[in-house]
Amino acid sequence: MKIIHFEEISSTNKYIKENYDSLENFTFVVADYQSDGKGRENRSWISPSNENLLFSFLIKDKKLFQDYKALSIGTATLVGRFLEFIGIENVMIKWPNDVYVNDKKICGILLEGNIEKYIALGVGLNVNQATFKGEYRVTPTSIRKELGKDIDVESLKVLLFEFIMKHMNQKGFKSHTLKFYQKHDYLLGKTVSISNITGKVQGITENFDLLIDDKIISSGEIN
Ligand code: BTN
Repeated sequence: MKIIHFEEISSTNKYIKENYDSLENFTFVVADYQSDGKGRENRSWISPSNENLLFSFLIKDKKLFQDYKALSIGTATLVGRFLEFIGIENVMIKWPNDVYVNDKKICGILLEGNIEKYIALGVGLNVNQATFKGEYRVTPTSIRKELGKDIDVESLKVLLFEFIMKHMNQKGFKSHTLKFYQKHDYLLGKTVSISNITGKVQGITENFDLLIDDKIISSGEIN
């Protein structure tokens, strides 16, 4: 594992997109502050300096990145497992890759790349942020808010990176991902709408697609 640290950068995902050629598999790029952090659906990801974990990691191993849906949900479930490991309860995963705690969003993931060459997985995990000012689509929370104490971001960072790398390289990664997701399925049983389809979520398929009634949805965002 290689870690590249920036005090400030525009976006760690952007850094990987521009440099993937010269970086090795499982390079973690982490920033104390992002001046132009990106969220899904062209939104921005705004986070104060030094309070949260903002990182992206590069997957260049073809076997892994060809199954990008497993990687995307897999990253969310690994963050979820890690949060449980440090004592947070009521962790849920919202398809395709948000991590929720007590109905609030604690972590968002942005997957970008080129399906032939590499995948960059960007993770924004709220750690020590105590107040969230401004408008949010979903109410945010942080580890500090859930555990009621400050966390040492530095040590959390290394533990989480090691946890992710270890589990992604393990044989049962896909089946463990599916199992954890099914036990922590935020959308299960909820009535949702996506691309002109409205119905009740029945879970996800073995290929990590969303099942709404009998319809299979392979990408998109549930609001
Ligand atoms: C979402 O919309 O939920 C995804 C948010 C992803 C944010 C992270 S922060 C580190 C990485 N760099 C970025 O510019 N975005 C991702």
